[in-house]
Amino acid sequence: MPKPRKIRQRAANRRGERVKILISGGRIQRRIQAIAKQIRRDFPDEPLHLVSVLKGGVFFLTDLARSIAGEVSFDFIAVSSYGKATRSSGQVRLTRDLDSSIEGKTVILVEDILDTGMTLQYLLKLFQQRKPKHLRVAVLLDKPERRVAPVRADYLGFSIPNEFVVGYGLDYAERYRNLPYVGVLSLDSKLAKKAAEK
Ligand code: IMP
Ligand code: MG
Repeated sequence: MPKPRKIRQRAANRRGERVKILISGGRIQRRIQAIAKQIRRDFPDEPLHLVSVLKGGVFFLTDLARSIAGEVSFDFIAVSSYGKATRSSGQVRLTRDLDSSIEGKTVILVEDILDTGMTLQYLLKLFQQRKPKHLRVAVLLDKPERRVAPVRADYLGFSIPNEFVVGYGLDYAERYRNLPYVGVLSLDSKLAKKAAEK
């Protein structure tokens, strides 16, 4: 059996793509433990309802849910942006709604990354209309330089520079979500072109 590290390297080298580790799996897990404690301190006696945005936020949600003591439930929502070009215009569309009502619940919206802020701005507005008891935002990563919408996270894993990252839920063309760490993706354009021609 090949060692897991080898499999990972091979996956990362596909089509001239390189992934350089930015935040190790260990650091991510330690930070999540701390965030879980912080959330419980803020809401010591309340059932917490975690809502994650598919698909990127799922890894963060499941690790976070396992680290929070007491009563926790969760649900999922999915959105899509109208293509990259229109992203900054705030065109976010709901593609999958929640299974259950959030009225009167203490809701933590769990996202992989806060980039322009358009997605969270849309979701916060939508959720606020549904009258939760409390509404908070937890994001694993934040790229403050890219912010367009005035959204801030109540709970934050790591602030990162303006680079395209993959792993721990984050994808490039649906790949790399399964990496246990977060890495910066770089493309060797010549190699990537060659692979695409094959
Ligand atoms: P926002 O609406 O611009 O804040 O976009 C947030 C969404 O864009 C995230 O949920 C990701 O799906 C995606 N995204 C933003 N930055 C990255 C990145 O560096 N790598 C992968 N996906 C990203
Ligand atoms: Mg996402």
